[in-house]
Amino acid sequence: MAVALVVAAGSGERLGADRPKAFVLLAGRPMVEWSLDALRAAGIEEIVVAVPPELDEALRAPLRAAGCTVVVGGAVRSHSVRRALAAASAGRELVLVHDAARPLAPPDLFIRCVAALAGADAAIAAAPVTDTIKEAGQDGVVARTLDRSGLWSVQTPQAFRRDVLQRALDVPAETLAAATDDAWLVEQAGGRVLIVESSAANLKVTTPIDLEVAARALAG
Ligand code: CTP
Ligand code: MG
Repeated sequence: MAVALVVAAGSGERLGADRPKAFVLLAGRPMVEWSLDALRAAGIEEIVVAVPPELDEALRAPLRAAGCTVVVGGAVRSHSVRRALAAASAGRELVLVHDAARPLAPPDLFIRCVAALAGADAAIAAAPVTDTIKEAGQDGVVARTLDRSGLWSVQTPQAFRRDVLQRALDVPAETLAAATDDAWLVEQAGGRVLIVESSAANLKVTTPIDLEVAARALAG
């Protein structure tokens, strides 16, 4: 059985709400709770949540009441992952990392990521790229159009063998700060990372318009 690390320690600068993004109300509940529900529905028993250091006790208490371990996150996302991993029980060999900013991830996606670890060091949710992708110079002039078959837009959840994730996160602060996802750190270390097909419906809440779209999706 895997342990889940939910990173919720970002400030949500681009959303610009009156509280950290993961705790903004979404369809009547703090955003992070939607991910906790999906993880429980996927059969995950142990969940560690990384929260901002200054988070109000009133927002922290419901996480503990829901049976989660709560830790203070770090300055960058991967640092929050590292702190959450340090709080996970010793017996857990498999780890799911998930962004609280993706409240629509369905339970089966968590299950499929963990199952895919049978043949990989890491298994990551990703959606096929549907936009045409071009590469341009600083001057805005298009240099070329990429072949999008074989290109994937990477999401969370991301599942890892614990020892692999532990080693991947054991790098200098600059490398940790440069990581936009944890799988990149595993790739750097030569690990085998497998794609688990997801869809654009597993959206990331970044800006106010994303919050509106997510609220509509949850309202059915
Ligand atoms: N995160 C974290 N610790 C950090 C930074 C981010 O746990 N130091 C988490 C966020 O809470 C979020 C996920 O990582 O669930 C993805 O990050 P992002 O969408 O960038 O969220 P924020 O950093 O909160 O938003 P912004 O970049 O707009 O400030
Ligand atoms: Mg951020």
